[in-house]
Amino acid sequence: MSENPEMRFDGKVVVVTGAGNGLGRDYALQLAARGAKVIVNDLGGSTDGIGNDQAAAARVVEQIRSNGGEAVASFDSVATEEGGAAIIRAAIDTWGRVDAVIANAGILRDKSFAKLTPPELDALLDVHLRGTFFTVHPAFTWMRENGGGNVVVTASPSALFGAFGQSNYCAAKLGIVGMMQVMAIEGAKAGIKVNALAPTAATRLTATAGMSDAPREPLPPEQDPMSTGRVSPLVLALAHESCPASGEIFNAGCGWISRAVIAVNEGVMLDSFTPEAVAAQWDALRDPSTLSVPQNATDYWHMIQARTGAQG
Ligand code: NAI
Repeated sequence: MSENPEMRFDGKVVVVTGAGNGLGRDYALQLAARGAKVIVNDLGGSTDGIGNDQAAAARVVEQIRSNGGEAVASFDSVATEEGGAAIIRAAIDTWGRVDAVIANAGILRDKSFAKLTPPELDALLDVHLRGTFFTVHPAFTWMRENGGGNVVVTASPSALFGAFGQSNYCAAKLGIVGMMQVMAIEGAKAGIKVNALAPTAATRLTATAGMSDAPREPLPPEQDPMSTGRVSPLVLALAHESCPASGEIFNAGCGWISRAVIAVNEGVMLDSFTPEAVAAQWDALRDPSTLSVPQNATDYWHMIQARTGAQG
């Protein structure tokens, strides 16, 4: 397959949250290497969101600058309204614009659902769901007035497909997917494209989740199947003005990139409106071989109408 011309970000300003480590760090480095001016945001806490340390973001900024790129550190937390506003303000105050936001900051506090406590739910909602809102909202409103832009939010395969011990994380991550779909619909007219990424890579976060034994210095993508560098190409393509997609969910892990969808199967028409009529058709109702993908809730309503003749 032939490759497109080099994808450059010259003159573009990109905000990456949680860019002091792992995936965000790789996105920031690669964006800067392709000409982007990057706000490297990171609170610098532990994987469960405790503490803060400016060293993580500062190190990435230093690395970008020593490679000849442009970057500014932001140490604010995405988890507060003031923090999110300050992160986006850093881009606008420094370079006068914000062309793309990659909302990537994240933490984990795994616990089985039976043992989950309200503070453990809140902590995850604060960083992931509210954090995405607090960061993307000020950028979205700026983009709406200034010709559009690209937003990449971060979901997770755990949230899309389910995983033991992560109900708080998955609730937050699928909340992000819901927010993304609406932002994409509402931002379309203004030229704002919003997509969600579900990444898989070895980072300190997955080390705590038991996917790999220890956090490691990132290896180049050619040498390590779990390299963050095998996820970044899709993220850069989503953050670039040439991205054709909006409102969609993409997976990236180990070099395999794919699209995930929320789909509807052919289902069945009830011939009587009783639970017994449902029970008689469980197999057809659950059949995954007839799935199709509504583009939005209006499209889904049209599917109902086509099958039932219902009128709104
Ligand atoms: P990581 O722990 O290496 O990086 C996350 C960064 O976010 C850290 O540097 C941390 O300090 C920062 N951060 C946390 N809370 C913050 C806050 N309130 N404000 C600002 N920065 C904050 O983890 P990784 O793996 O790079 O994760 C990046 C994103 O990808 C997260 O949203 C995570 O949930 C998601 N993800 C990662 C997967 C993987 O396989 N690595 C799988 C699925 C999702």
